[in-house]
Amino acid sequence: MSATVSLQQLTDQLEHLEAEAAQAIAAATTATELEDLRVGLLGKKGKLSGVLGAMGKLPGDERPLVGQRANVLKEQVQSLMAERLAAVKGAAMAKRIAAETLDVTAPASFTPPGHRHPLISTTEEIVDIFAGLGYRVSEGPEIETDYYNFSALNIPEHHPARDMQDTFYLGDGRLLRTHTSPVQIRYLETNPPPVRVIAPGRVYRRDAVDATHSPVFHQVEVLAIDEGLDFTHLRGTVTTFLQRFFGDLPVRFRASYFPFTEPSAEVDVQWRGRWLEVMGCGMVDPAVLTGMGLDPERWSGFAAGLGVERFCMVRHGIDDIRRLYTSDQRFLDQF
Ligand code: DAH
Repeated sequence: MSATVSLQQLTDQLEHLEAEAAQAIAAATTATELEDLRVGLLGKKGKLSGVLGAMGKLPGDERPLVGQRANVLKEQVQSLMAERLAAVKGAAMAKRIAAETLDVTAPASFTPPGHRHPLISTTEEIVDIFAGLGYRVSEGPEIETDYYNFSALNIPEHHPARDMQDTFYLGDGRLLRTHTSPVQIRYLETNPPPVRVIAPGRVYRRDAVDATHSPVFHQVEVLAIDEGLDFTHLRGTVTTFLQRFFGDLPVRFRASYFPFTEPSAEVDVQWRGRWLEVMGCGMVDPAVLTGMGLDPERWSGFAAGLGVERFCMVRHGIDDIRRLYTSDQRFLDQF
């Protein structure tokens, strides 16, 4: 004979179950915990099913009473769960919001973006203008030999430029180039004319530092070799370039002397009422052409060398060349 169950027993069990469920639900802190509880209580194999399984042993007229009580329990548990779930979710959300709070009043940490140094932007501007005139860009080494820096450029043995006063010699016979003109020679070695090339770069001289001198400075070399080039081409090119860079400033050519050009000239622009020298130039000396194996009867050309610092200082109204090298943030921020 199977064990008997009374209505009272089952009702007590349901009562107990409900109290136990209410406690567990109140203690749950996550949605998963609540779901586990729901399955454990109301699921197919849950505790409620367990109690109801015994209902069959009651007399027929008592069963509906147990069923009704079970329905009340079920509804009660479900509503407690819904309530608790809302509370648990709300707490989780509040916690997340607190963790993700952005203090929009906090002072920003600011890293200023970098930008082009004025010497670089000036060089780029010069290069752009010549590129627009059909010139290619080439570069040469800053450590040179006597041949490229001097002799190939027709600079004689006892020329003052070779003096220890002017040139940094490296002891092994090499030297720091004193101008960008050696790139003329290097370029012609590998590029037969016609050529149109510019060479920007750093140059070195044993100069004492003052407002207008620095032992390291920058030049842009210009070289054009072709058939039939004469001084009018030089003059036209230089004038066009200067007008593009400075606008409509008065320009003048002064006769001068460089060993690698004949005739030679220095070019001044009038700026704020003063004549300022901005470059040296001239027709490539036949001796330089011959040295490169070029027939001066067929080929002629012009060359120019300009100081980037001068262009930069005029463009920006800078009074002292040292400002370009001292990396003072307050100065650099203006460009
Ligand atoms: N190399 C010269 C210097 O540094 C500048 C120069 C003058 C370059 C005349 C040239 C030129 O190409 O034709 O003083």
